[in-house]
Amino acid sequence: MNKNVRKAIIAGNWKMNMTPSEAKKLIAELIPAVEGKNGCEIVLCVPFVDIPAAVEAVQGTSLKIGAQNVHFEKSGAFTGEISAAMLKECGVEYVVIGHSERRQYFGETDETVNLRMKAALAAGLKPIVCVGELLSQRDRGITNETVSAQTKIAFLDVSAEDAVKVTVAYEPVWAIGTGRTATAEQAEEVCAVIRSVLAEKYGNDVAEAVTVQYGGSMKPSNAAELLAKYDVDGGLIGGASLKAADFAAIVDAAQ
Ligand code: 13P
Repeated sequence: MNKNVRKAIIAGNWKMNMTPSEAKKLIAELIPAVEGKNGCEIVLCVPFVDIPAAVEAVQGTSLKIGAQNVHFEKSGAFTGEISAAMLKECGVEYVVIGHSERRQYFGETDETVNLRMKAALAAGLKPIVCVGELLSQRDRGITNETVSAQTKIAFLDVSAEDAVKVTVAYEPVWAIGTGRTATAEQAEEVCAVIRSVLAEKYGNDVAEAVTVQYGGSMKPSNAAELLAKYDVDGGLIGGASLKAADFAAIVDAAQ
């Protein structure tokens, strides 16, 4: 990564794991394991119901709490949904938007990703917007086109001032939870494509300031190699974020 202009962000995406009491326990293990490691921002994206416990548990530390989704309307008859203002008031700073699991199982589209981005930014949340190709798209040689289009639509009507508050997570769908990681070269190639899309829209200064993470089976054994790449500014970590020692080792690799 370009350490002159960007700080790495290591974010755990706990997905649908950890009850509030389990969340407290994991964070209590994590805090001493990452203490003093200020070379990167550390974010825990936890299930909605864990947010109050997690926000309380990280008080007085540099750890930040994120949510895993946000609705795009401000309020109203949207049973089961959570608004950006609700998250903000609970002490949430980051929010994952457009994760491939939401695209695959819950009907998320590029257009709703864009709506969620704008709602999150308007409420003062920092989006972590996920993009990434399916294996079939990679096999057909349309990875860069797919990810470029996802990125372009995600940033529609987002100002340059807001764009720098966004983190883009490149998560190739075939690498998520499969143990099959993209090579550092594959990750770098697509993260650079994402940055070039941002450069085209906002200019180089903004593109260089945006954090672009890699996600997909990132673990202690491969984190350093991935994070050494110029355009890979951190990681969005699923499975390995559920074990304090593994997550702390990835934080170490980002120092
Ligand atoms: P895994 O690290 O479990 O592959 O998950 C990656 C991911 O989807 C993070 O959002």
